[in-house]
Amino acid sequence: MVAFFGLVVGLVSLGLASAQAVSTDGTCGGTGKVTCLGSSFGNCCSQFGWCGSTTNHCGIGCQSAFGSCTGSNPSSSVTRSTSSTRSSSAPSSLATKVSTDATCGGTGGYTCQGSTFGSCCSSSGWCGSTTAYCGTGCQPGFGTCTGTSISSSAIFSSIRTSSTTRTSSVMASPTASQSAQQCLNGKNVPYKMTSDTAYAGLVKPYNLRLPYKPAVVVIPTTNQHIQDAVLCASQAGIKVQAKSGGHSYASFSSGGKDGSMMIDLQSLQTISVDQAGVATVGGGVRLGNLANGIWNSGQRALSHGTCPGVGIGGHFTHGGYGHTSRNYGLAMDQIIAADVVLANGTLIKATSSQSPDIFWAIRGAADSIGIVTTFYLQTRPAPSSITYIQFDFSGVLNSKTTFTNTFLHIQDVAKNSSVTDSKLSFGVYLDNYGTYSLSGAYFGSVADFNSKVRPELLRTLSTPTATVQSMSWYDYLVKVSGKTTIQVPTTGYDEHDNFFAKSLTVPESTGLTSAALNALYDYLKTSGSVDYYIIINLYGGPGSAINTKDTAFAAYSDRDSLWVLQNYGSTSASIGFVNGINSAIINAQPQTGFGAYLNYVDPSYDAATAHKLYYGDAVYSRLATLKAQVDPKSVFWNPQAIGA
Ligand SMILES: *[C@@H]1O[C@H](CO)[C@@H](O)[C@H](O)[C@H]1NC(C)=O
Ligand SMILES: *[C@@H]1O[C@H](CO)[C@@H](O)[C@H](O)[C@H]1NC(C)=O
Repeated sequence: MVAFFGLVVGLVSLGLASAQAVSTDGTCGGTGKVTCLGSSFGNCCSQFGWCGSTTNHCGIGCQSAFGSCTGSNPSSSVTRSTSSTRSSSAPSSLATKVSTDATCGGTGGYTCQGSTFGSCCSSSGWCGSTTAYCGTGCQPGFGTCTGTSISSSAIFSSIRTSSTTRTSSVMASPTASQSAQQCLNGKNVPYKMTSDTAYAGLVKPYNLRLPYKPAVVVIPTTNQHIQDAVLCASQAGIKVQAKSGGHSYASFSSGGKDGSMMIDLQSLQTISVDQAGVATVGGGVRLGNLANGIWNSGQRALSHGTCPGVGIGGHFTHGGYGHTSRNYGLAMDQIIAADVVLANGTLIKATSSQSPDIFWAIRGAADSIGIVTTFYLQTRPAPSSITYIQFDFSGVLNSKTTFTNTFLHIQDVAKNSSVTDSKLSFGVYLDNYGTYSLSGAYFGSVADFNSKVRPELLRTLSTPTATVQSMSWYDYLVKVSGKTTIQVPTTGYDEHDNFFAKSLTVPESTGLTSAALNALYDYLKTSGSVDYYIIINLYGGPGSAINTKDTAFAAYSDRDSLWVLQNYGSTSASIGFVNGINSAIINAQPQTGFGAYLNYVDPSYDAATAHKLYYGDAVYSRLATLKAQVDPKSVFWNPQAIGA
């Protein structure tokens, strides 16, 4: 700090305000009239009061009273002055697409040169202009790598003109994570860095196959912490993803790439239900605790998935199917309001009438739009009992004819309105051990199920081992969780798997054809020793509450599926096999428009393919327009985010 002080004194001759305090946290202006000049964050004070050296800071709106606003784009001026050497030394032919989302290199092959994020491509594939990007590991094929950063060289040259310099090591330019850290310190936001002992446990993903290293893990206890953290990340040029339960199949909750800011919502554990049955729920609540909490607040119920450890944040904002969804709708359909932190650090309440575009977008694409800190959910009175059904069939996987005819019959039942209505939900499960079972729930008595559904369901099929059992709502939740309790620890959650999964949404208009089922059977028989399972859940059919809505309701395009398949393989050894399951079906039904389900997010898709499969062109285009308005710097980012 002494060095900075000397620097400011030395710069008084440039005609700037004297004796201004130099920013130590990246902010400028404000009541303290803090200047950026001589700070480690860059010399320009942006219109929003952040120090930096990009056009965002030095360009339109730059506040000359709190720093310099000259050389509006230091990175481009450096590029100009050295362009002749660069064009010969850098293999510019390698990358010609200019990064629009701050990523570089990789399979997309984007270059940072000419981007608004800085012209250096860091070792982990981010554009920037500090030593973290231009120094060790900088990738010359995807931008420039000329020595030190713009801001640090500006400081060094200023120091040289000042007689009261310290050694240059004192003035080393901060890395992006150091500058985020300084900013977080300045705002008293709790966080852990890679050097902290708690870091490893916090970043250990559900899917162990995809471990990413966030630059920093923020552990907010207030909404203000989240707002501050998002601004700190934005200012430091770090990408942000929130972690609710951390079950993202692609580990997007830890960034989907090294070097992001993970905002771990584990402290947001509110669960309360008001007189109207509206539950106020913190963004870090896991599904088991949610179901338990609202049951204990007047025996209320919601529809959502069965895994108690899954967090509300990802599950509710990207669909959220459970065996009550054909009756109650998807998890997201029960959101009536949300408190959301946007990329500019603003906290808003979004409803169908207040910020309706953002309310629409967070239900389908919250990972790209904002962080939901609090959900407001319309609960229902839990039914006094529910009927659990399970039928285990033997030998289905021993014969192609049996395999195909069994499913075709189940599909007929699913579409038959004299059997199937909103009260019935089920899925078919099969695996490499020969298991073939149908299980689900019926909102009615055992006697009703046995008289109205069971005879037609089992007609033509070999006699299964059957369970048809009435249960209390709470016992049902425990039963389908596969555990002895649905309550989950709020800290130190430590369940993991190592897997690759894909989904396939099957339109109601076609269903699965016998050709596709035959092809699937033939393919499964090539499985060798790979461990896999397939779950085929019924979404559509007569009375489905899922499919009564459309894309005007939420940014979720899958409202016309009959089935949604989850194809799941253990360890990376199964990737090829699981991909082949999808291919076998798709190739046998080439005219069908299959899609994919967001909550089984598949990291093997490039961004454009993911956008098409998850959203379709119309929804994606509306989301992209909104993203450009509310998050123009792509602060909220993962490899398949809107705009990626
Ligand atoms: C629908 O189910 C009824 C039994 O409730 C059955 O008689 C009828 O044949 C079924 N229709 C089709 C198209 O399978
Ligand atoms: C933050 O972004 C929202 C959405 O774009 C906008 O409405 C709001 O005015 C912005 N707030 C500030 C302080 O810039």
